Amino acid sequence: MQFQAPRGTHDVLPSESHRWQYLERTFAGLVELYGYREIRTPAFEDTELFVRSSGETSDIVSKQMYTFIDKGGRSVTLKPEGTAPSIRSYLEHHLGDANQINRLWYQTQIFRYERPQKGRYREAHQLGIELIGSPSPLADAEVIELTVRFYQTIGFEKPTVLLNSLGREQTRAQFRTAILKHAASWLKDQSEEDRARAERNPLRLLDSKSPEIQAMMQGSAQISDFLEDDSRDHFRALQNHLDGAGISYRVAPEIVRGLDYYTDTVFEVQSESLGAQSALCGGGRYDNLIEQLGGPPTASVGVALGIERALIALEADDEQNQTPLLEAYVVAAFEGARCDALQLARELRSDGISAQCDLDRLSLRAQVKQADKLQARFALIIGESELASRTVTVKRLADGHQISSSREDLPATLKALS
Ligand code: HAM
Repeated sequence: MQFQAPRGTHDVLPSESHRWQYLERTFAGLVELYGYREIRTPAFEDTELFVRSSGETSDIVSKQMYTFIDKGGRSVTLKPEGTAPSIRSYLEHHLGDANQINRLWYQTQIFRYERPQKGRYREAHQLGIELIGSPSPLADAEVIELTVRFYQTIGFEKPTVLLNSLGREQTRAQFRTAILKHAASWLKDQSEEDRARAERNPLRLLDSKSPEIQAMMQGSAQISDFLEDDSRDHFRALQNHLDGAGISYRVAPEIVRGLDYYTDTVFEVQSESLGAQSALCGGGRYDNLIEQLGGPPTASVGVALGIERALIALEADDEQNQTPLLEAYVVAAFEGARCDALQLARELRSDGISAQCDLDRLSLRAQVKQADKLQARFALIIGESELASRTVTVKRLADGHQISSSREDLPATLKALS
């Protein structure tokens, strides 16, 4: 029997992992510049944590969780997202006691039992940040700015943020009533299940992908009609901060997000190349969540970015694809050069240049072939004359260009030829 990766999961193969590492490194480097510190949480948590945070009517809790009873009879769930576990840990370890504001970042697998398609998997990977402890619109602006800077750094020219405010509980209650009133005659003709789903969470009618529902929702009330003064002021101040930071955004009333914990600001960055799963990332403010999980009222905001989706969207013109995996393959042209080839590879690595050499006593021709196969940028050849003069023949494999370099100048020579 030949095993396969379970449906909706995928392996990251050696030929792809450098693209993942590039995103992960870039994200970690960027968020640390803003003072975020990494948090790592377990792969599974008490099921109740997600039920309480994401909301019982959310798609995640109602149909997507990987939940099981462990051998001790506890209900546990593979984490479907990173916010609730981060907050659980923040509360458990009293991180809020030492600092008024905590800036956390994470890199995590998430598990959601979804129908797999391009950009949607049962095991996916997120990069995320949570800025815990500030009610200021500057906090929302920081999270959004950081998100946009990340996408710009990895090669998206002009990521546009889709921005909305969901207001507070009262706003949402009024808005829900208004939506249900607008949709009432359409809902009458729907199946009992669809009707029940819409009634449980009418906001989701707004971000439905169905053309029929989109047409039906035309002319419905907008949440902005119901925003309270504080929410309106917050939203306006956020937009001013984004203008000040030169971030391009569009106010998008259809962005309602799929998790129940949001208050006021919500946002996404989308990419057309993703097709139906157009959200590259999603985030927003969640001022009630910490209290709901047993902590003191603590205003917070965060975002999570899908790694797979960023990679798909970047695929078309991905510079990292062109980056060789190996800088130098050191070729011993005759038996007497083998020790020296090993030594040269060691020296290059200590100069920060990736290098390999033959382990299997391959012939000269086979070694050069191997360098090609490994997609090395250079073959560095040590023959008898090179050994005697402490030089190396540098062959750039992309075009066959060849020069001689002294051992001392080699790092500079390779840099110049790259
Ligand atoms: P989310 O919108 O559920 O938000 O997920 C954020 C991002 O994770 C999505 O925009 C997408 O890029 C990626 N993602 C989610 N599910 C999948 C999947 N099945 N397959 C591939 N990619 C996926 C959250 O998870 C919130 N915790 C974000 C947040 C942080 N809000 C505040 N702080």
